[in-house]
Amino acid sequence: MPSLSIHLLSIALCLSSGFQQGYIASVINQPYKQIQQYINDSWVIQFGQPIGPATLNLIWSFLNVCFPIATIFGQLFANIACAKFGRKKTAILATALYIPGTLLCGLSKYLMPAFELLFVGRIIWSFANGLSSVNATIWIVECAPAKIRGRMASQQEVAMALGSLTTQGLGVLFSTDELWPFNFFPNCLIALINILMFIPIYESPQYIMEKYGDVDMARKALASYHGCSVADESIDQEMRICEESIEKGKKTSDQKVEKPTIKTEYTSNEIMFMPWRSRDQTSQLIRHAAWLGVMVKVF
Ligand SMILES: *[C@@H]1O[C@H](CO)[C@@H](O)[C@H](O)[C@H]1NC(C)=O
Repeated sequence: MPSLSIHLLSIALCLSSGFQQGYIASVINQPYKQIQQYINDSWVIQFGQPIGPATLNLIWSFLNVCFPIATIFGQLFANIACAKFGRKKTAILATALYIPGTLLCGLSKYLMPAFELLFVGRIIWSFANGLSSVNATIWIVECAPAKIRGRMASQQEVAMALGSLTTQGLGVLFSTDELWPFNFFPNCLIALINILMFIPIYESPQYIMEKYGDVDMARKALASYHGCSVADESIDQEMRICEESIEKGKKTSDQKVEKPTIKTEYTSNEIMFMPWRSRDQTSQLIRHAAWLGVMVKVF
């Protein structure tokens, strides 16, 4: 019988990851006419003439495409954030970022002609979503009892559908020139409730061990996730798995064990973003393949 705390974790992660992804992906679909009109009106104020159809098209494509691009940057940042701040703080940080992201999108109407705010908001929001989705996966893998791990991961898909369903519902009500920002605003309340849900949940035992080496605390966290007492036998087993994986991680970093994957002497960040540093053939190959992958995903 899964514990209360694992249920709460599951719902909180669904809201902050899958639900938000569905929400951002389709929030501008229904009120697109009204938002395009707003961009057009802003353009008149900024440049003294109505926007041409080609330019409007281009701006609209950029508005759509900044979602997957910013998501990828969020995902790249997630590994760093997870190791530095822990799973819980990363989740709260990402969810907190949804609030300015959402607000900027909606407020841009009242700050006319600042249609650029639509972009700024959407980029912050998407970045946070990339961060949150990788963090959620790591947290689930580390904490969920094996029995329900698969179910927890698949619930993200359901949450995604719920997210886009929510925007459809809001779109029916608020797709007018006056009310289109209200497609965004309700998300602030959702994010706020979402943050509160994370507060009573324990940090991942894996991170507690890595960061503080506090066995008692890690056992308490595991017991809370698994819904059993701290002295339970299954906790011993989980602790062993946890310690083994940390041990493995240490070995790789201490002895620089050569991994059986593609060998290159640069870090992935250097390969991707600093081509002038990593100019050997393997790095070039990885870089081209990776960026091609990004492009395929975007377009
Ligand atoms: C922009 O608005 C003007 C009216 O203000 C309209 O004539 C024009 O067709 C609009 N442009 C686009 C691309 O919708």
